[in-house]
Amino acid sequence: MTERIDNPIPLLEVKNLATGYGDIRVVWDVSLSVFTGKLTAVLGRNGAGKTTALRAIAGLNKVGKGSIVYKGSDVSHLPAHRRVGMGMALVQDGKRVFHRLTVQENLLLGGYTLGIGRRKMPEKLTRIYDIFPMLGDRQNVTVGQMSGGQQQMVAIGQALMAEPSLLMLDEPSGGLAPAIVDEVMGILVTLKATGMGVLLVEQQVEAAIDVADQVVVLDIGRVILDSPASELVDLDVLKEAYFGSAKLEGDASSEKHESA
Ligand SMILES: Nc1ncnc2c1ncn2[C@@H]1O[C@H](COP(=O)(O)OP(=O)(O)OP(=O)(O)O)[C@@H](O)[C@H]1O
Ligand SMILES: [Mg+2]
Repeated sequence: MTERIDNPIPLLEVKNLATGYGDIRVVWDVSLSVFTGKLTAVLGRNGAGKTTALRAIAGLNKVGKGSIVYKGSDVSHLPAHRRVGMGMALVQDGKRVFHRLTVQENLLLGGYTLGIGRRKMPEKLTRIYDIFPMLGDRQNVTVGQMSGGQQQMVAIGQALMAEPSLLMLDEPSGGLAPAIVDEVMGILVTLKATGMGVLLVEQQVEAAIDVADQVVVLDIGRVILDSPASELVDLDVLKEAYFGSAKLEGDASSEKHESA
């Protein structure tokens, strides 16, 4: 059999992941891949298990079953900081920035948290400001005075201090106006053009598909759709995956919305 040259080894390969909180399992079987310079979007309804799966990939939730292979190494049971050291960075949901500190102070704090030495900081900062000139222009501005979108950029900037090969983000569009969502998605496109692999968890389906190469939909802790983004042009397949799954669960009511 000939080797397929259009099928490179993934940067991240998650196989049959099961995870949860203590004894409570909420993710049963999630497999997905992220390739260098590509973006995989993880979509799904509220409570589908997106955040839980992402936390397990980053090392914040314990892997119950399955494996997480990054750059060819099985990292399934490595502590989170070791994964960060290997180039896996996570931007958690909510804009976890310090409002009373300046942009630069936030980035420095991010750097220290990631274990970057003082001597390397200036070069790391310069790199972030090259990627996000907006942050360079505002390096001495207090983050609390900035817009939600700008704060999200600071949060992403903090993660980039580690110079990750894989950037994972949990709903970076959360609470942002549509125009700003596009701006944040634009940043992700810029980052993947630098060769970074991106794993993006999103609620903003169309915005995510626009920037994604591969789309994975989760429901009740399982993958219910895994498709190249280019094949999801009319979004009908996706709607079917989202709303068809309720029927698969034996619930014939067409649209079941969670009441939080
Ligand atoms: N700390 C926790 N302890 C126990 N169960 C939790 C915890 N956090 C989340 N869960 C449960 O795990 C399930 C999956 O939640 P998760 O946050 O992963 O979903 P999600 O897909 O990220 O949803 P959303 O789109 O609302 O962010 C839900 O049933 C949720 O109630
Ligand atoms: Mg979530």
